[in-house]
Amino acid sequence: MKRIRRSNEFEISLNISNENFIRPPRDMQRNAVVNRAIKEFSADLLALDKQTKKFVAGETVSDFKDRTQATLTDQEIMEDWQLPVMKAMAKVVCEKGGDILELGFGRGVASDMIQAFDINTHIIMECNDAVIERYNDWKLQYPKRDIQLVKGLWQDTIETVGNFDGIFFHTYPLNEEEYMKYVNESITFAAHFFSSASKHLKPGGAFSYFSNEVDSLSREHQRELFKHFSSFQLEKVNLQLPNDIKDTWWADTIVVVKAIK
Ligand SMILES: C[S@@+](CC[C@H](N)C(=O)[O-])C[C@H]1O[C@@H](n2cnc3c(N)ncnc32)[C@H](O)[C@@H]1O
Repeated sequence: MKRIRRSNEFEISLNISNENFIRPPRDMQRNAVVNRAIKEFSADLLALDKQTKKFVAGETVSDFKDRTQATLTDQEIMEDWQLPVMKAMAKVVCEKGGDILELGFGRGVASDMIQAFDINTHIIMECNDAVIERYNDWKLQYPKRDIQLVKGLWQDTIETVGNFDGIFFHTYPLNEEEYMKYVNESITFAAHFFSSASKHLKPGGAFSYFSNEVDSLSREHQRELFKHFSSFQLEKVNLQLPNDIKDTWWADTIVVVKAIK
């Protein structure tokens, strides 16, 4: 089966060599689904054309140092452009109050935002000792609040905690190996946490993360979510990006996900 779709800017050529690949009972069904897939791909390319014209140049950070125990500056932990993203995610996980789990303390910006809501308990998981020192200072501001830190990699500690009304996920790849596995080979960084998130949410609880997608979620991403959650909502967050952004993000919007168990 061959399909060619041409426009002024590009040509898509598809050659399905296996006659049994995408083989529903009738030929017209096969045509319909293949045509639809090409139409979607074409529409995606047009959207990418518009989006990329607005990209900032950014700066390439090439050597990937292990940051599991590195002492990092504020901007190395999280650049300021992410603050509106933190705000949107905090609202998603805290709007119904209750027990909140946060992964990755970092600068404590999101922890402050979470504390601004009327919640019962706040558990924070963090692996970096220098960041844990920051946490110890930060915690002094909230002597009467029920906040606990769980030290270590969440992968080693997640089974020591119970279930939550809201789960806020914002870690980053700690080394090149994690980058390859969780970013390069995955549809979204948070995907390696989906099954744990679903397991530790109370029924109706909300899990939030941001996806490195500009204005929607890919089908592959949505299918991955539906393996673990019953529904999800998206918010497109507007960003003010510095031209010399170090992070691998260049678009002026990003998608925040609210997944419901
Ligand atoms: C981007 S920062 C979080 C920023 C934070 N949301 C804020 O508002 O400041 C990511 C944090 O996750 C921590 N982290 C990364 N991987 C982790 C893991 N597997 N387990 C626990 N903490 C992790 C890092 O040490 C870092 O402090």
